[in-house]
Amino acid sequence: MTPAPATPARFISFEGIDGSGKSTQARMLADTLRAHGHDVVLTREPGGSPGAEEIRRLVLEGDPDRWSPETEILLFTAARRDHLERTICPALDAGKIVICDRFADSTRMYQGLRGPGLRAQVDALHDLMIGQEPDLTVLVDMDPETGLSRALGRNGGEERFETFGQDLQARMRAGFRDLAAQHPDRIVTVNGAQDVDAVAADVLTVVEPRLR
Ligand code: TYD
Repeated sequence: MTPAPATPARFISFEGIDGSGKSTQARMLADTLRAHGHDVVLTREPGGSPGAEEIRRLVLEGDPDRWSPETEILLFTAARRDHLERTICPALDAGKIVICDRFADSTRMYQGLRGPGLRAQVDALHDLMIGQEPDLTVLVDMDPETGLSRALGRNGGEERFETFGQDLQARMRAGFRDLAAQHPDRIVTVNGAQDVDAVAADVLTVVEPRLR
């Protein structure tokens, strides 16, 4: 029996630890697909809709300790729900390709790995309020030392998660890789420790066959 063809990828997410270069790769993929004539919406999480961008400011700026991990799970999921309703679903319904810089896998890792029982809460809330996965997820894999030095070298007020340090980033890298092993049909890993164009070429090799 021939295996069923993979679902065509209309909804594509990028994941990776801080400084992995996934935002650059998401932008480059959007540019390339547009140049090939596709109608592409490039968006990001947390954020991607006016309401979710407000939640982004709440969660990423200000005192890093003002939210518990549980409250963060609620805030990130609330932002995702608004983003889905207002941006992602309408774009998919209109036949566009959606490229999203981070999605639910980030909550599974960033909040889910911060203590016992949190991952189950992330999954329960996801099932209840989101219930949707990307068709294809590109994991830009990068060692935490390189990723962190890149992330800390950037400016801006959003240093909430970059200051988590190398230990947590290392656990998240391992967590992302485990997730990819558990969902081989959805998550594809590319090596982020190459020059930008080489990573972009690998991303295109993964994505192009899935567009048909
Ligand atoms: P992002 O803007 O992707 O930062 P970067 O470009 O540095 O990777 O994401 C902002 C931060 O939000 C990042 O440190 C990861 C964190 N985050 C969570 O903790 N949970 C989530 O569900 C999401 C989407 C992001």
